[in-house]
Amino acid sequence: MIRLQSPLPDDYSRAPDDELSRRVRSAKQTLGERLVILGHHYQREEVIEFADARGDSFGLSRFAADQRDAEFVVFCGVHFMAESADILTAPHQQVILPDLNAGCSMADMADVDGVEQIWDELSKVTDIERVVPVTYMNSAAALKAFVGRNGGAVCTSSNARSILRWALGLDGAGVGSMPRPDGGAGDKVLFFPDQHLGRNTGFELGYGAADMRVVNPRLALGGLEDHDVKDATLLLWKGHCSVHQRFSTVHVEAFRAAHPDGIVIVHPECSHEVVELADQVGSTDYIIKAVAAAPAGSTIAVGTEIHLVDRLRRQHAADRSVVSLDPLVCPCSTMFRIDLPHLAWVLEGLVAGGVRNRITVDEPIATQARVALERMLAIA
Ligand code: 13P
Ligand code: SF4
Repeated sequence: MIRLQSPLPDDYSRAPDDELSRRVRSAKQTLGERLVILGHHYQREEVIEFADARGDSFGLSRFAADQRDAEFVVFCGVHFMAESADILTAPHQQVILPDLNAGCSMADMADVDGVEQIWDELSKVTDIERVVPVTYMNSAAALKAFVGRNGGAVCTSSNARSILRWALGLDGAGVGSMPRPDGGAGDKVLFFPDQHLGRNTGFELGYGAADMRVVNPRLALGGLEDHDVKDATLLLWKGHCSVHQRFSTVHVEAFRAAHPDGIVIVHPECSHEVVELADQVGSTDYIIKAVAAAPAGSTIAVGTEIHLVDRLRRQHAADRSVVSLDPLVCPCSTMFRIDLPHLAWVLEGLVAGGVRNRITVDEPIATQARVALERMLAIA
């Protein structure tokens, strides 16, 4: 998806960091309670220090849904997070993304036309009323809307397990019942866009490889035969995060060889082979808690974005050693686009009475996507 961020004036792009920090602080002070800044854990240090709330994508969506006072919500994260915040906040609140080019390559791997086409093809070989669509938070609002109008829910890396349980009626409620007015309780799930989160969660719930099929959106019926669709419980969209897919079993083995007592903690966007070898797996918020809970003196290899790993390394330097599972740096280039010049530019715009880079989701997409997001918030 192409979004165009125009270059910033020299007054921002050439200003030194200490001056920009002063200007951000001063704008924040002037705006007071009219402003709230949200920061995802992958943000740079010099940006996240200004966040009023930091969190994983689930925590930040909860925060956005709960607070009703601030007129402006500046989201230091990526586009799909700002869209979700716009959907969950009240109409009088305006959500701002400091750099419009801060997208997510994984989210861009599924678009609504492709998903609708596969849905239509699936409906010719299986009872589509019994298929529950589940989209990862890392997806465009149009996909969340598709899920909302087809009885599904959004999930994040911290609640994928509960959402899949709900979708497949594993807790008993509504299994086999027809129709599904409140969504969930189907026989199959179409999970997009991250195959790894879907697969890792499926294994966690006790499903095996034979219960899962990868849906390749470039091929008719996802490259599957009719019997594959009938046999599978989890239909996993062929998408991935290029940051997390880099972590490999070779990295885990090398770390274990160097630190036989070391602890490996990875994000569920990593491949199943890596997750299987890890000691712990969880969302960014989970990783932060797991590192804090590890015994003093431990050496911990973390498989996630480097800004979070570096922050954990600095925070715990006194009594434990935190390293990146991949010794080569592994940044999320789109999260990295949010920097001090862009933050100062949007905040000073607000002080001057102008709203720059507002993110809005139009109707009816917003209402349908809100159904899928609110189902998630109610379940998890
Ligand atoms: P969290 O849900 O853990 O915040 O992860 C979001 C993300 O984009 C990870 O790549
Ligand atoms: Fe998207 Fe991966 Fe970056 Fe997360 S780390 S925002 S999934 S590209």
